[in-house]
Amino acid sequence: MTRDIEQDIEHWVRPEIRALSAYHVPDPGDCIKLDAMENPYRWPGELVNAWLERLRGVSINRYPDPGARRLQSALRIAMEVPDAMSVLLGNGSDELIQMIVQTLAAPGRVILAPEPTFVMYRLIAQVVGLRFVGVPLREDFALDPETMLEAIELHQPAVIFLAYPNNPTGNLFDAAALRRVIEAAPGLVVVDEAYAAFASDSFMARLTEYSNLLVLRTVSKMGLAGLRLGLLVGPQAWLAEIDKTRLPYNIGVLNQASAEFALEHRAVLEAQTAQIRSDRAALLAALRALPMLQVYPSEANFILFRTALGRADALFEGLRSRGILIKNLSPAGGALRDCLRVTVGAPEENQAFLDALRDLL
Ligand SMILES: Cc1ncc(COP(=O)(O)O)c(C=O)c1O
Repeated sequence: MTRDIEQDIEHWVRPEIRALSAYHVPDPGDCIKLDAMENPYRWPGELVNAWLERLRGVSINRYPDPGARRLQSALRIAMEVPDAMSVLLGNGSDELIQMIVQTLAAPGRVILAPEPTFVMYRLIAQVVGLRFVGVPLREDFALDPETMLEAIELHQPAVIFLAYPNNPTGNLFDAAALRRVIEAAPGLVVVDEAYAAFASDSFMARLTEYSNLLVLRTVSKMGLAGLRLGLLVGPQAWLAEIDKTRLPYNIGVLNQASAEFALEHRAVLEAQTAQIRSDRAALLAALRALPMLQVYPSEANFILFRTALGRADALFEGLRSRGILIKNLSPAGGALRDCLRVTVGAPEENQAFLDALRDLL
């Protein structure tokens, strides 16, 4: 007897899950890849050799240190974690977002974030079965504290996510507005600092001022996206609860050894991120000199720009056919209509992007 799969799926998979689309990652083919906020630089050959040598010593037959203690100590130093705060590691910061939401999940609860923002907050809330409330940013993508406070009062969210700088808009919200949100929040506030390496401010040192504040970081944007390693920083009491949702051994032995090695050589990564920050300024200036674009300021390693009405899809496709992959945000609609996002690449990649864009405009 063959069963009707469609019927089974309709019966067993929750409607919210059936309504979702899986997170789509396009195949870059041979394109210059400026779509995913990656650091474009590889390591010098001698560093690669030393890294591979280090991996020789790893016991692949053993489970990893479940608490990744050596790696945690190195991350505490590299990320200037306050002594009084604890650290929890995730397989990418995505996993930590999921763990936070799972920990606070209960029927009827709300996850809240300003929008547009990082799409995983909404996606994870929906997968876990919670309601997601997106609070519109102002037209210039600034955080409107009054609208946020009203939404907090109305929805009493269990968790508020604030990307600082925000993705995909690239701006840093006003720190005083963020403080008001943290003070008004009935539950947890997670300041997601995925782009800290490129930003002029951080809430890491302010953790000691608030008991409901957590700071999320990742090593992805500083040049280790392939590793999948994120860290959550906050009071031990909160992290101990969130840690209960962690699958054992979530950071593999190769990841632990590689991240420890990379942090021992973090001057190399820091030189790369400094280069990206300076190339961001050049790319911003060059984009601003092009006609018919509205270019938004950025404290991250990407730049958001708005094209003339209805032109984003054609520009995106035109760039792609010239071998350059960026991110088309226009299909998301709303405030992101006509918007494209480009990651700051190596100087020759940025130049190829600018040449192609100039051609298309
Ligand atoms: C704001 C923000 N947070 C978190 C992440 C996830 O980073 P990862 O899972 O690579 O640590 C991203 C990735 O784009 C992001 O933009």
